[in-house]
Amino acid sequence: MEHVILDVDTGIDDALAIAYAVHSPELDVLGITTCFGNVSQKEATRNTLQVLDVLDADDNIPVIPGANEPISGQHIKEKSTRIHGEDGLGNSGLPLSKRTPYSSEAADFIIEKMEEYPGQITVIAVGPQTNMALAIQKNPEIVRLAKRVVIMGGAVTVPGNVTPNAEANIYADPEAASIVFKSGMPVTLVGLDVTMQTLLRVEDVQQWGEVKSDYSDFLQTICNFYMDAYHQFNPELGGSALHDPLAVGVVIDPSFVKTTPMHVGVNVERGDALGNTHEVAQKNKNVEVCLDIDVDHFVSHFLNRIV
Ligand code: RIB
Ligand code: CA
Repeated sequence: MEHVILDVDTGIDDALAIAYAVHSPELDVLGITTCFGNVSQKEATRNTLQVLDVLDADDNIPVIPGANEPISGQHIKEKSTRIHGEDGLGNSGLPLSKRTPYSSEAADFIIEKMEEYPGQITVIAVGPQTNMALAIQKNPEIVRLAKRVVIMGGAVTVPGNVTPNAEANIYADPEAASIVFKSGMPVTLVGLDVTMQTLLRVEDVQQWGEVKSDYSDFLQTICNFYMDAYHQFNPELGGSALHDPLAVGVVIDPSFVKTTPMHVGVNVERGDALGNTHEVAQKNKNVEVCLDIDVDHFVSHFLNRIV
């Protein structure tokens, strides 16, 4: 079993990623750290607790609040209300959870677990990189203690989604992403290069209606919202992208993707190119970039696991 920490900004596709991880026996979810991004950190924490309730997940999975603002202290990106709803979960109106967030801080939790399981922890980071960057700044030793960080973020060979040049998670805190990329920690980048090919379609979601439970109702509500939102932005696409679940998938089964070692830089200058992730002609490769994907293999695995 792979020991993982999920770092999330829950978010609809984050919720799907949590469900996928919790339903996967290959993964030992040691904790879920939260970050601002799609919503505020407080909302991401609340949503994560609610998702664990609806999944009827183990009470022992701690949820640890993290950063509520970028490392620079200046919010760059607004909440993603149009894609994820006012509440971040497609306005699903879930009851408040009785679970309580862990009393530690995300960065401290990441450090603590890396020290407890040297060389064995994979962080699956599917929001801005702020918690990871803060952990590295607090204790640079974790660069050597981590197994790797699998990041849903970036768009190395394709256009961005929040600006023509930038993907949302990197754009929300480019300085943090730059710190992680430059740190020397093994990084796998699951960016729009591959995630935009992994589509959830109307017929997939309709099938969940045949299994009647609170959980299948919840899945349908959030995914219907997510698909409507995607349809408004890009009717040609024919579905909505499984960004965050793919980062989990790559840890469950690395054969879903093929990676290419690259030196990837992050543009941190304010301006049109802010948050851009691009290949830099440099010998030392700092990131394994996912550029090829077996779409059918991944999507069918995800769909089978999720319900
Ligand atoms: O660009 C896609 C990413 O931005 C996903 O992690 C989604 O949840 C949003 O945070
Ligand atoms: Ca996310």
